Amino acid sequence: MILLHKMFYFILCICIYYTNAIPPIEQTMEKLIKLISDDQVLKPAEFKFPQWEKKLGLYRSEVRLDFFGEPLQAELRKNKYIYVFDNNMFATGWISSVLLEATVYGRAPKIIDTERLSLAIDAIETFHDHNQNESSVPLMTFWSQIYNQTTNIWQSAPDNLRYLITDFDDSLLLIEDILKLLGIKNIAQLIDKIRTSSAAFKDVFQIPPDFDDTYLNIGLGVQLKLLQDKYPSLYLRWLQTNSNMKKLIDLTLRYAYKPSSQNLDQNTIDPRTYFWIRDFVRDNPQAVLATTWAQNITEVRTIAHRGIRMPFNLNNIDVTVGANVIYGITSAIIYDLVDFKDYFNQDMQTLYLSTASLIAWSIKNSMKNRPDLAQVYYPSHYNFLWYGSRSLFLLELARRQDKSLPDVFNRVYSLLSDVYRSDVVKFFQDHVRSDKSSYDDFLGTNDTNIFGKLEPTGEDRIFSTAQTVNILIASFTYFDTNTGRLKWITNEKQLDTIKIMINNSISWLLENAFKYQPFNCFFSGSVKGFNQLPFWYPANIYQFLNGTTFDPDHFDTENQSLMDSIVGVSGYIDETTYERMISQKHFNVSTPTTFNGYNVPGGEFPFWSSQPYTHSVTLLALAQYNNLDD
Ligand SMILES: *[C@@H]1O[C@H](CO)[C@@H](O)[C@H](O)[C@H]1NC(C)=O
Ligand SMILES: *[C@@H]1O[C@H](CO)[C@@H](O)[C@H](O)[C@H]1NC(C)=O
Ligand SMILES: *[C@@H]1O[C@H](CO)[C@@H](O)[C@H](O)[C@H]1NC(C)=O
Ligand SMILES: *[C@@H]1O[C@H](CO)[C@@H](O)[C@H](O)[C@H]1NC(C)=O
Ligand SMILES: *[C@@H]1O[C@H](CO)[C@@H](O)[C@H](O)[C@H]1NC(C)=O
Ligand SMILES: *[C@@H]1O[C@H](CO)[C@@H](O)[C@H](O)[C@H]1NC(C)=O
Ligand SMILES: *[C@@H]1O[C@H](CO)[C@@H](O)[C@H](O)[C@H]1NC(C)=O
Ligand SMILES: *[C@@H]1O[C@H](CO)[C@@H](O)[C@H](O)[C@H]1NC(C)=O
Repeated sequence: MILLHKMFYFILCICIYYTNAIPPIEQTMEKLIKLISDDQVLKPAEFKFPQWEKKLGLYRSEVRLDFFGEPLQAELRKNKYIYVFDNNMFATGWISSVLLEATVYGRAPKIIDTERLSLAIDAIETFHDHNQNESSVPLMTFWSQIYNQTTNIWQSAPDNLRYLITDFDDSLLLIEDILKLLGIKNIAQLIDKIRTSSAAFKDVFQIPPDFDDTYLNIGLGVQLKLLQDKYPSLYLRWLQTNSNMKKLIDLTLRYAYKPSSQNLDQNTIDPRTYFWIRDFVRDNPQAVLATTWAQNITEVRTIAHRGIRMPFNLNNIDVTVGANVIYGITSAIIYDLVDFKDYFNQDMQTLYLSTASLIAWSIKNSMKNRPDLAQVYYPSHYNFLWYGSRSLFLLELARRQDKSLPDVFNRVYSLLSDVYRSDVVKFFQDHVRSDKSSYDDFLGTNDTNIFGKLEPTGEDRIFSTAQTVNILIASFTYFDTNTGRLKWITNEKQLDTIKIMINNSISWLLENAFKYQPFNCFFSGSVKGFNQLPFWYPANIYQFLNGTTFDPDHFDTENQSLMDSIVGVSGYIDETTYERMISQKHFNVSTPTTFNGYNVPGGEFPFWSSQPYTHSVTLLALAQYNNLDD
């Protein structure tokens, strides 16, 4: 009997010993891997409010409303039950990419198996643009498309939002019941706000394919190619629907913004873009810049009424989209994806250099103090910076392997290494919280407690801090293919500072990775409030879709709709003229010349957040830190 007790005690000791023996970093990674895995849809569900439609293989991501301020308001933003599940490609594409990246560059327990990855890849496959008349064109959409028999075209459709708005009043009754159940007061006020926001939702529907999802998918394809040993068959499957690189490059160039072109399709851009980008255009008149949407004015004129249109019928530039296009191109060339490099012609090289220059320029110029316009769809600054840093990391690696690349890659390397190894570090030093370890973007930063005192909730703190680590690692280390370790770039003077910054943030993540809401703001509509409507900004093109021009000073807003209007800037406007235009009113509204942040009254906007995305980038930060050579 005693012996048995002793045995038991002995085993217990061993167990305790081994539990303690697992270092905290491994434990945290295990827990993150489990949480990420739990957030993948393994059983598809149909919409039957309040049950959301969920598509097999996708990871959880949700639409929330950025209310802020008093506890009741803040609750509407962060409540566990108040969100709409969204079936988009972006979150799942990123989570898959991040998990693969952590596998390659990090040291971690097994992150994802073939079966789960294959579910995600299959799901992503369904986000192809079905309106292409050639096969295997890797052009992707944020939401998957459904066929519209009336208009004979495939249309993007955000399932749950569409259902919710189609039978809005039925849903409302249910929403009210649920809110009452949750004990949320002021329901009438909330319903009112949801009503106004859902009206704003409508113009983000029916969108064309975009170059962000498109180049995210290209980067993913390259990773699958590099990991063929680990995940056999997945790359070949990917190739079946993504091999037409010629068409991809044709489309990228066709829809690019070329301010000095004579063609309206190419030289016209959203007036909000022009407002912050104009000095860059002045200094780089021959620029060719990657845009957001795969649609031009000629096309929108005829196809808008069949159900595919860019928001406000015009293309724009978002630096985040640019960063992802740059990464897609960089990885496709360095790792020789299909025959991509055969079509990497002079125009495409110009697009690559111009777009990278714009990214460096916008970081150096703090987005001209208009992040709301520069990151018009993707407000998270930490996320944007990380997307940009990934190209630098690849370029550094290629240089160390003496890969022969077109000269334009050296120029982009210079631009990115300069900005990431100085300006971006400075940005972090200026924005680190008082603990010298963690970072906030904007979710919940302007919340107050019941006494009206400022009490930030840190909802994007985990995400922003993890991305900071990922950016610093991407900027100051390279992957040594011989040892499989990440090595410091030793000729950097500030390396000691960087190591301390990374150490601090890693310690913070180990302690706090599960203590705050793991939210992020990876996507949003382009309009965050009245000030982000394009009509108030100087423009020189005022037309209806049918080509008839109109006068904004005599526009009858009561009886006419701007829905079918094209308000844009064509070509270059000299600065003196532009300054005068800024001082004038447009549609009887003064130009909004300043931006006061994402938490000002009247600026409550819908945003997309994905918890497994936050967990994945945290995992990436820890796995890479765990693989650093000291
Ligand atoms: C596809 O459409 C383009 C115009 O958008 C046309 O030039 C081309 O000939 C078409 N290709 C096929 C195979 O139908
Ligand atoms: C705009 O799209 C149309 C239809 O696809 C195409 O014919 C036209 O060439 C495009 N414009 C430019 C400048 O590429
Ligand atoms: C088809 O498209 C038209 C035009 O956008 C739209 O009015 C109609 O509701 C769509 N039909 C379906 C079934 O979605
Ligand atoms: C970072 O932390 C590691 C171990 O936690 C330590 O060995 C290293 O010296 C630290 N580096 C700096 C610069 O503090
Ligand atoms: C063009 O569209 C506008 C607005 O829809 C309309 O008022 C105008 O009459 C149209 N012009 C022609 C020539 O059809
Ligand atoms: C709008 O149209 C109605 C009826 O056609 C007219 O009475 C009204 O004056 C118009 N509003 C404006 C601002 O012109
Ligand atoms: C323009 O706006 C002012 C208020 O800012 C208003 O008094 C005036 O009536 C408006 N004019 C027109 C033509 O709508
Ligand atoms: C915070 O919110 C208040 C009102 O709720 C607003 O006046 C202020 O400008 C906001 N501050 C920031 C930094 O967003």
